[in-house]
Amino acid sequence: MSAKKLKVFVTVKLPDSVETRLRELFDTTLCPDKRPMPRDKLLEAAQTAEVIVSSINDQIDADFFATAGEQLKMVANFGVGYDHIDIQSAADKGIIITNTPGVLTEDTAEMTMGLILAVARRFVEGAETVQRGEFSEWSPTFMMGRRIYGKRLGIIGMGRIGQALARRAKAFGMSVHYHNRKPVSARIAEEIGATYWDNLDDMLPRMDVVSVNCPRTSETFHLLNAERLGLLSPTAIIVNTARGEIIDETALAHLLREHKIAGVGLDVYERLPGINPELFGLPNAVLLPHMASSTIEARQDMGDRVILNIKTLQDGHRPPDRVIP
Ligand code: DGY
Repeated sequence: MSAKKLKVFVTVKLPDSVETRLRELFDTTLCPDKRPMPRDKLLEAAQTAEVIVSSINDQIDADFFATAGEQLKMVANFGVGYDHIDIQSAADKGIIITNTPGVLTEDTAEMTMGLILAVARRFVEGAETVQRGEFSEWSPTFMMGRRIYGKRLGIIGMGRIGQALARRAKAFGMSVHYHNRKPVSARIAEEIGATYWDNLDDMLPRMDVVSVNCPRTSETFHLLNAERLGLLSPTAIIVNTARGEIIDETALAHLLREHKIAGVGLDVYERLPGINPELFGLPNAVLLPHMASSTIEARQDMGDRVILNIKTLQDGHRPPDRVIP
């Protein structure tokens, strides 16, 4: 006998194939348009849905859990980062939280490597110059960037994405360093050949490129504050494809404007919606619209994980991607 279909509410537009499958397997209400769900609709849904499929756009906070009805069993987040979800409140109410780990690692690492190259080799400035019709002849001193071969990359956060970036950076001839709560296992350390820095303050001044790849937690909020950013060399480049709040954006913009660092590549921002206007108009800033995991393949795989987690719950088992036990 097939299990009763769970009542699922989706807060964000997902790929068509994922939405079709969600409708086939569950009693699903899809997000009606391409914009994220307004807060009042989300809170309303929490009173009737058994599963909410959320995204980074939703504040799944203490108020959300206080409003949620007894029927709510799970929040299945479409994304790996879950800093927008109040895990403690979920645990207190016995609500399961799942995410989509593993399936967007390579995509995010690809984009991070691309961002490093884009900033160092001035891809965006160069491309815009051509688009404006301002390129007419080659010149030896035009658009000089910085070579990354032989340079030192410091990765902050050596989880799955940090490791995938390390492998790519190694292939580009960079020497890889990292700061993490603890060193990676001996097997991974040997494969990646990266140097561990226990103290971030010691690592930062020695790096040519710094990449932020750690999760946003209470410990990593403004981990790169004005003081730490000030440790970077004036020739250093910094990229962030993790979460905006890990860097003090105002301090970053100031250092960039003052030429105290060489360039930045950002895919994430401190205060969305809206980006700190001080970051605009700087030629040495490559600003992307949170697209590091945005490939057709990753979005499908993320959808498949969300579906697997809900289906497992529907079948009476514990979903595999629980972020709390
Ligand atoms: C993730 O998966 O965490 C992406 O940043 C989108 O939320």
